[in-house]
Amino acid sequence: MSLKYGGDYNPEQWPEEVWVEDVRLMHEAGVNFVTVGVFSWALLEPSEGQFEFGWLDRALDLLHENGISVDLGTGTASPPPWLSSNYPEILPMDRAGTTLWPGARQHYCPSSPIYRERASILAGKVAERYANHPAVIMWHINNEYGCHVHECFCDESAVAFRTWLREKYGSIDAVNDAWTTNFWSQRYTSFEQILPPRVTPVFENPSQRLDFKRFSSAELFACFMAEKVAVRRFSEDLPVTTNFIGVFRHVDYWKWVSELDVISDDSYPDPLDPDAAMGAAMSRDLMRSLGGGKPWLLMEQATGYVNWRHVNGTKPGTMMQALSMQAVARGADGINFFQWRQSRGGAEKFHSGMIPHSGTRSRIWQNVVQLGADLTKLDLLEGWSVNAEVAFVLDWESWWASEGDGHQIQLNFHDNLLEWYRPFYEANIAVDFVSPGADLSGYKLVVAAHLYLYTDATAALLGAYVKAGGTLLATYFTGHVDGNDQARLDGYLGTLQDVLGLSIDDFSALAATGTRSSIAVTSERWGILECSEWSEYLRLRGANVHARFSGTDLDGMPAITSHAHGRGTAWYIATRPNRAGIARVVVEIASSAGVVPVVSGLPLGVEAVNRGAALFLINQSDRDVEIPLDGFDVLSNQQRFRPTLGAYASLVLANATEGDRRLAASLAEVAAR
Ligand code: GLA
Repeated sequence: MSLKYGGDYNPEQWPEEVWVEDVRLMHEAGVNFVTVGVFSWALLEPSEGQFEFGWLDRALDLLHENGISVDLGTGTASPPPWLSSNYPEILPMDRAGTTLWPGARQHYCPSSPIYRERASILAGKVAERYANHPAVIMWHINNEYGCHVHECFCDESAVAFRTWLREKYGSIDAVNDAWTTNFWSQRYTSFEQILPPRVTPVFENPSQRLDFKRFSSAELFACFMAEKVAVRRFSEDLPVTTNFIGVFRHVDYWKWVSELDVISDDSYPDPLDPDAAMGAAMSRDLMRSLGGGKPWLLMEQATGYVNWRHVNGTKPGTMMQALSMQAVARGADGINFFQWRQSRGGAEKFHSGMIPHSGTRSRIWQNVVQLGADLTKLDLLEGWSVNAEVAFVLDWESWWASEGDGHQIQLNFHDNLLEWYRPFYEANIAVDFVSPGADLSGYKLVVAAHLYLYTDATAALLGAYVKAGGTLLATYFTGHVDGNDQARLDGYLGTLQDVLGLSIDDFSALAATGTRSSIAVTSERWGILECSEWSEYLRLRGANVHARFSGTDLDGMPAITSHAHGRGTAWYIATRPNRAGIARVVVEIASSAGVVPVVSGLPLGVEAVNRGAALFLINQSDRDVEIPLDGFDVLSNQQRFRPTLGAYASLVLANATEGDRRLAASLAEVAAR
């Protein structure tokens, strides 16, 4: 078995003579897996109902003859011109009523019955033709659902939204109750009056908005399922995937994962962002978690620059390898790129590829070849897992609701989540993500960061986890509302009041900038913590106070508390300490819960992750660092003693601090072959 290595291969962009050179170079780079046909609809079905597979037959045969496996796209991500001109009703519409026209890609309304039907027909034809092709080992349904069009506000979407609401609520009165429509005279007397939340004069109804987010995510899932069902008619066994987009706001991935055989992710950290590696690590941890810990695939990344930011920096030195090693360390069984050959024309011609415009003399190509060689040394890792003792509850519904209009602050959920994840990342403590209903019993610490919305059932699960001996850390902006985005009365938090030993009397938002943008919190344990964004008037109901606000009328009031509940402990942080403060507080809470880092004492910027019996040490910084450890390094195939690790270099040590030593020994053996 080997780790998968390759990328999106678009032979249709090149004359067939080039294909022969392609497979030769794929061998040179160690490529064993490519994704084909993702954007091929216009060539596979040049007019309605007329299919042409000749070129794809030849491409797949050539790949097979050269031992390269294929993840075959269903080809449905970009409708061909004939489809939108025959059926203009498939085109999506934005909130302001503007049609999104053809000329790019993903120009379809997810609720369009015609789009779904034509996409399913093509997916079925592709599966029928290639189910038994020896090159094909996986189906790749569509592409990055919701990437560009995550919601559509057209009339067809309105019809579908009403159907979805009928199924959810049964009666218009139930919708009115859930959406609090007596407010601002919004009461509906029939489903036909309900529209998607198009542009309004001022704040839209937040419960309607939340339901529309749920609906839109579900419609994308329905598109996926329509294609999957079509594929399964001809191929019962081959694994099915669709490529996710990391910690992506618009699609509730928890609701998809039971229908995916392989979780795969597209990951484009910004090389100019100092937090690029941390953000990527968070996505990798999410991907592993979505599959319940099973290995996943890095389906796309860039060798260098992308073309879609305002400024597109390249990955310097061996940053590309470091980010690839990070993915393997965090559970990936394959590393792939968009795309094999950098395009000559089209919108993405200045997006890097495995073979860049400058050809095989380039530094990019050398990096690609080097990574291919490195990955073959890690083959034995395939299937090994990462063990995390900390779980973050990630709930898309809460994310959507927390960022709606009409709050005291404009919470940036993603960026805040990253700030709570940061201390774990920097301390090399492995983290999983869990859905709100997940079994928490295996975790020593559960973090509910800004879990603004939860149902009573979720609150009960969190309470039961603490009662049974777990440690919960909840932050401000948690437990304000129920599943309909209606405020929880009498101190917010619902039944978590008893668990946390407190209730919330009032909120006190801080200014985004300027004099009233921070507040001090003092603590015997942590000294003075500079805090921002939020503060609260807490009312204690049994919790111990570890830190208090200082100054303003909050002076002396609790800011950080803990409460013994059953056999466990529940912590609450009512404000946002600065980075150093969060690190101090969070790492101490983690260690009080018995959570230990993979390795301590590493220089900042070095990631340490145990995957099975292999210890990955990855220098994500641009300077040399000293590693205070000895061990056999699988990548360089030698014993290393307190090695210096260059910028963006990695070690994979077979003498992991914990874990299965027998596997570690065979890993060393493989490396020595
Ligand atoms: C996404 C798409 C690819 C390509 C890349 C560019 O991941 O799936 O087709 O457009 O972005 O970064």
